[in-house]
Order: sequence, then C-alpha cells, then structure tokens
Amino acid sequence: MTSKLDRLNQWVAEVARLTRPDAIQWCDGSDTENAALIDKMLADGTLHRLNDDTHPGSYLHRSHPDDVARVEHLTYVCTTHHEDAGPNNHWMAPDEAHAEIDALFDGCMQGRTMYVIPYCMGPIDSPLSRCGVEITDSPYVVANMRIMTRMGAAALARIERDGSFVKGLHSIGELDPNRRYIMHFPEELTIKSYGSGYGGNALLGKKCHALRIASHQARSEGWLAEHMLILGIENPQGQTHYIAAAFPSACGKTNLAMLIPPQGYRQDGWKIWTIGDDICWMRPGPDGRMYAINPEAGFFGVAPGTSNKSNPNALASIQSNTIFTNVGVTADNQPWWEGIDNGQAPVTDWQGQPYDAGVRPAAHPNSRFTVSARQCPSYSAMAEDPQGVPISAIVFGGRRASLVPLVFEARDWTHGVLVGAAMGSETTAAATGAVGVMRRDPMAMKPFCGYNFADYFAHWLSFDQDGAKLPKVFHVNWFRKGDDGKFLWPGFGDNLRVLEWMIRRVEGSGAATETPIGHLPAAGDLNLDGVTLSEEARDKLFGLDRAGWQAEFANLGEYLAEYGPRLPQALLDEQQRIADTLA
Ligand code: GTP
Ligand code: MN
Ligand code: MN
Repeated sequence: MTSKLDRLNQWVAEVARLTRPDAIQWCDGSDTENAALIDKMLADGTLHRLNDDTHPGSYLHRSHPDDVARVEHLTYVCTTHHEDAGPNNHWMAPDEAHAEIDALFDGCMQGRTMYVIPYCMGPIDSPLSRCGVEITDSPYVVANMRIMTRMGAAALARIERDGSFVKGLHSIGELDPNRRYIMHFPEELTIKSYGSGYGGNALLGKKCHALRIASHQARSEGWLAEHMLILGIENPQGQTHYIAAAFPSACGKTNLAMLIPPQGYRQDGWKIWTIGDDICWMRPGPDGRMYAINPEAGFFGVAPGTSNKSNPNALASIQSNTIFTNVGVTADNQPWWEGIDNGQAPVTDWQGQPYDAGVRPAAHPNSRFTVSARQCPSYSAMAEDPQGVPISAIVFGGRRASLVPLVFEARDWTHGVLVGAAMGSETTAAATGAVGVMRRDPMAMKPFCGYNFADYFAHWLSFDQDGAKLPKVFHVNWFRKGDDGKFLWPGFGDNLRVLEWMIRRVEGSGAATETPIGHLPAAGDLNLDGVTLSEEARDKLFGLDRAGWQAEFANLGEYLAEYGPRLPQALLDEQQRIADTLA
C-alpha cells in the first residue's frame, strides 16, 4: 500500500545518498529526545550550561564568529523565469542553483548524524497552517526548531494526512563564508541552505519557509505571509481588537508585541495580548474579515537592549528554558548583554574570551534568545486558535528621524498598499556610511518576499473585493527626532496611546483631519494625559511638512519606476494623485 509518507521517505533516502551521514535520526519532539541532544551538545562544546539557579534549563551557544547574521548577498530565489523573482531578489536559474549547492552537499554529513525534523508552522489543527520537513546535521538547529515550531510526531501525522510539505535541506558545512548559500525554489516548495548555523539561515521554518516560500505560495492560494507582529488590545470593557504591524528588522516589533500599558491605562484595565512578534499569515474569512495566525511557536528575539525597563515581558519570558546565542556571561554564569541594565557585569564575551570593552562588546549586537511563546506573560490563548484572530488594523512603520509624523491613516485599501510599498527606514549614526539615508523596505519584506515586488503589490491590491471587510491601514513612526537629535516621542508603553486612537478610528469614534498623505490626528485627538511634549514635538509629531512630502513623493515615483511595466497601474495612479495634491 502506498502511504502519503512515501514521498517524504524517498526524499530522505535521496538526501542521505547525497550527504552520506553516519546515522539518520527522525525527530519526534519529545523531552527525552531533547535531553539527549542537549547532553550531546554539552559534551562536544556546542552548548554551555548557564546558572541553573537563576536560569534553569537555559544554555549558551557561541556561533562561529563569521556566522552571526542573515546573509542577504548569498540568499537566492530560484524561479524558472528571472522576472518572477523581481529586482528585489538575487536570482539563479533552478538547474544551475541545484547543481551548485548539491556539489557542496555531496558527502557533507560524513561523520555526522542527519536529523529529520517534521514541523508545522501554525497551530497543528489550523487550516491556515502549513507543514515542512527540515533535514539538518546540526543538533543546535533541532533544539531551536523544537522551540520555534510545532515539531515532531504531531507534525508528521499531519504531513501523513495532508501529503504536502515544504522540503528544507540544511547543513552547517564547513562554516566557510565562501562556501555558503541560502537558496529557495518556491515553485518546488524547496529550500537548500549550506554553510551557516545562524537562525535566519538555518532554522528553515522561519524566514525561509514562513516568509519566502510562504509568500510565494500565499500568492497562488489567495492569502498573505507577512513580516508582522500580531497583538490584541483589550479595552476596559473586555473587548479585544487585533492589530498586525510590519516594521523592518530592529524597528520594534518584539517590543510592541509585548507592550505594557502606561500607568493610567493599566489602572483603567487596558491589556495587551501577544499573538506573535515576527511573522503573520492571514487570509479572508467567511465573513470577509482578515484572519491571522502566528506560524511560529516561539520568539527568536534580539537580546541587546532587552531590559526590565524596555521589555519586561520579554525579560520574564527568558528566565528559564531558553537558548541564548552569542551573549556574554557574568562571573556566576548568567547571560549578559549590553542594555540588560540589571546591575551585573560580564566577565566573558560572546566569543568566549575575557571581556574587554576595548576589544568587542560582551554580546554580539545580533545576539538572540530562543524561547517558547508560552513562557511570555502576555501570550494570548487566542494564538492557539485554529481559526486565527480577526485583524482590525494593519500598521506599517519605519525609522524616520525626519518628515514622517507619529501616525496617519490611509484613506482606503489602495492608499494603504501604497503606504506599505513606500515604507522606508533611515540608517543611523551607529551604522557605517552616511547618516539619515532613507532606504526603501516595502512592507518590511525587502529581504523576505519570495517573488517580484510588482506582483506582490498587485496581490495586496487584489484583496479589495466585494464583500471584503478589510482592516484599516495606518503608518507609524516612533523614531521622529528633534533638532537636538533626540527622540520626540517617548515610545514603548506610550505607543498604546497611538494604538488606542487607531481602535477609535476603527470603531468610528476617533477624530482626524484629512491631508494629502492621509488622515492625521490633531494632538488633541490622542490621549496624552501624563505625557509632556514640547511645542517642537507637537509640530513634528502631528504636523505635515508639505515641501518635504513633495520631495518624498518624487523620490517614491522614481523608486516605483524601478519595477517597470509589471507594477500595477492603480498603485502608480495613487502615487501620482497624491503627488498632484501636494504640488
Ligand atoms: P527583528 O526581530 O529583527 O525582525 O526586529 P524587531 O522589529 O523585532 O526589532 P526589535 O523589537 O528587536 O527592535 C528593537 C529596537 O527598537 C531597539 O533598538 C529598541 O530600543 C527600539 N525600539 C523599540 N520600540 C521603540 C520605541 O517605541 N521608541 C524608540 N525610540 N525605540 C524603540
Ligand atoms: Mn523581533
Ligand atoms: Mn524579523
């Protein structure tokens, strides 16, 4: 009798013939299996046990110093036709790409164990979820995938039922930056990643599957796979609205997803519920509203800057059962990073050397924690709901020191898609190169869209159909600066004031003024009780700099032109219409 697992078994055999591992281990996701893997990694130095009194069940992993971040220049989308990948992706012809990377995989697992990891992105019983299987030679990847996805026996059972899954092949290879590729074959639902153990490159369920492959699949199936957090805002009456928000990397998704309401709001009974902090899959439901799930089961968050002040929910989440990657450690073996602000001090840096501030920071700036979402105090039970949560508002945002006000609302869906397509973030003084240079990162998907952005914008526009009850679209900027170079908006918990205004707009009770760029609140339309804003702050956070926006729209026109005739006319028309109104 043929089983729906035949295809999986054949592929595993095929990969084993190519990579020639010493052993093959099918992962069931059990505690016993995890404990054995941890022991193995402690023995070979892949993991170090942290202080078991302060951080029970937690470990430190130090990566190869050349392998600490996603490698966009080595990341390819391999579609049959080059134009399908678009100017927003590196492209290679599928045949050529397979040949090139298979040569690297040839015999690469000799002396190692090959792990087969069935996983499900999203709740096991959700129709919105999708499964995958990652084959890897890294036990560190297995341990992380166990936290970040629903991994093991239940996922395998679903694959056996559905028959479909995304194939992901990964090897850490020799960790040689010159022998490293992250390749995506969206037409074959296949990922091949060689030469890196870093999360975004190696945990194939995350960016590779849940964004690049899923965005491509979502386009043909009528849904969206987005680089968005999902949160619930519960008002004092106990009603909850759900919001999805796309900000580029390091622009505050994890922070906003775990927001703690400011004093007055807390007393009144406002609560924030976390559904997800990085990825959102959503599709129209039977009632015409968009329903969203978080395909992930854990957080892979940036450690530096995480403190009891900036993100208490994140800090509370990572007190136990957490894998830390590339952080420093204190004398009594607790994890430490810049900005943890807990009165302790590092003695060892992320490379395992004695800490010397003159040599390198204690924690790598992209050091991360991996932890189950269930450990987050604000984690919502609705995150496990197979139907997903109905989205009331979609928020786009970036780091814009100048021009862009605190918040504005798009007039309609088409305008909202333009607002997302126009998203940008400015480089900071911390980065090399010019300061304040604005880079376009449409919908925060520049590194993650698995197909041509022109087609992606058209797909977004296509949701505007009869009967659709689409979310309202907003744009925020927590990062507007004053003439003194300081942030004008307090941010963090106080961002709830902006979210509350959005909810009032959704419900029809919030006030706003129509301007060429969209609906702007007057300072008085937002609850600013307890916030002191200078006159400059009020002007810049709530005002419209017409000349600045004229230049912005001229620049946007040039940017959109790069996508050529494939770009939907409706988007160009919208850009032109607003540019004309501003003139
Ligand atoms: P990825 O996980 O890489 O996709 O990024 P992310 O969007 O989750 O970024 P994260 O939340 O880790 O970004 C944190 C950075 O944003 C830190 O530098 C924070 O200080 C800063 N940040 C977050 N929220 C605010 C805010 O409201 N105001 C200001 N000024 N900074 C903020
Ligand atoms: Mn994050
Ligand atoms: Mn991200």
